[in-house]
Amino acid sequence: MTEGNDEKSAQKLARRHLRIMHACEKGATGVYWGHRLVASLLFRDLIPQLTEMHGHEVEHFAVFGGLMRARGVRPVVVPTLWCAGGIAYGVLTALGGRRAVWRSTAVIEGIVERELTEAARFFKGRDREVHRAIEVILQDELAHKTQGEANSPGEQAVDKFVTPLAKAGAQASKTFAERL
Ligand SMILES: [Fe+2]
Ligand SMILES: [Fe+2]
Repeated sequence: MTEGNDEKSAQKLARRHLRIMHACEKGATGVYWGHRLVASLLFRDLIPQLTEMHGHEVEHFAVFGGLMRARGVRPVVVPTLWCAGGIAYGVLTALGGRRAVWRSTAVIEGIVERELTEAARFFKGRDREVHRAIEVILQDELAHKTQGEANSPGEQAVDKFVTPLAKAGAQASKTFAERL
């Protein structure tokens, strides 16, 4: 009886992890879309790097989507909402300048790294395919974080606006994914 309950709660947790990662990847595609939109007007030199990272997020979203379909896990209701939220956030932060784009990237990707590390720990020994996919995706996210940090060294005034906004945005993305 207890074992059955443990198994049920583990399955519930697995679905929750997948749904959150999937929705947040959709949010990330929106953030980079928003950053690219503003960059195309104000700082075009950032476009190659932003486009590459955007491409990774699109791939990550597809990978989690495939894993969920194969396991019969439903996605969040209307993932496009995460994309829309990401775009609004991405445009707003990018209007703070190129430093804001990179600081936002560093903060958000740091949060993503922690989230994926926790998920990888959960899936290790439970689901080899999901675990492996997270490990591969983590490498991209770490590279994104490193790029963000390298391009926004030290502290500047704009960080006071970007850092709390990035944390709140990432938290909102996760909270809604848990409920919808
Ligand atoms: Fe990603
Ligand atoms: Fe990323």
